[in-house]
Amino acid sequence: MRQLICAGNWKMHKTAREAGAFVDTFLPLARAVPERVEIVICPPFTALAAVGSKLNSGRIRLGAQDVHWEESGAFTGAISAPMLREHGVQYVIVGHSERREYFGDTDLTVRLKTAAALAGGLTPIVAVGETLELRDAGRALAHVALQTRAALEGLSESDIARIVLAYEPIWAIGTGRNCDPAEANAVMAAMRACVPGLRDVPILYGGSVKAENIAAYTAQSDIDGGLVGGASLDPASFAALCANAGGA
Ligand code: 13P
Repeated sequence: MRQLICAGNWKMHKTAREAGAFVDTFLPLARAVPERVEIVICPPFTALAAVGSKLNSGRIRLGAQDVHWEESGAFTGAISAPMLREHGVQYVIVGHSERREYFGDTDLTVRLKTAAALAGGLTPIVAVGETLELRDAGRALAHVALQTRAALEGLSESDIARIVLAYEPIWAIGTGRNCDPAEANAVMAAMRACVPGLRDVPILYGGSVKAENIAAYTAQSDIDGGLVGGASLDPASFAALCANAGGA
């Protein structure tokens, strides 16, 4: 059985102080979340220490939102896998559409970052997704398959077994227009089939996921949780979402 995961991607929200206050409120609420749901919080880099110290190696995992592919070097502004590991980070989002659109991430750098995360002992959450234009042109499946294959190119079977994938249709991100669960499931089943070894890899859906709609996704055959933006910023709504994901 594949792992169920709810990962909160806070994007560029919350100072360290605000992040600490979130965790204080969230921890007691998270007790209602079934154990089989892995909860991941991905704050900005500057809040990793504040969040990590409060999670204190409990059941909630710490994630980051990006990683550089080198361990160290002259890369102003970048953060490497060993730096994240030292903060207790276990997951890292790679290839988010906002990184691709605003920060120049390409299929090649996404592949390098995925490999670096794995080599550094982190679990990459590799994100792919199509624009509305591509979807309307009937090219969603082909596009996400292409991005998925590109990101995983050259990885060993044992590395592929350690990754997490996320399908985030760009038109559904932050729009309130979530993808129909059956449609998302079809895309995700195609992703699972496009590279050998993905049968047991969790694939998360992202794009306007809320406490009210997550169960309709996790009920699908190929959807193993959510990558959540806006609804992960409020402790009560994220706790309810994680609980509903596990059918609590
Ligand atoms: P929203 O949940 O705000 O639509 O964001 C989704 C997302 O981009 C998570 O990575």
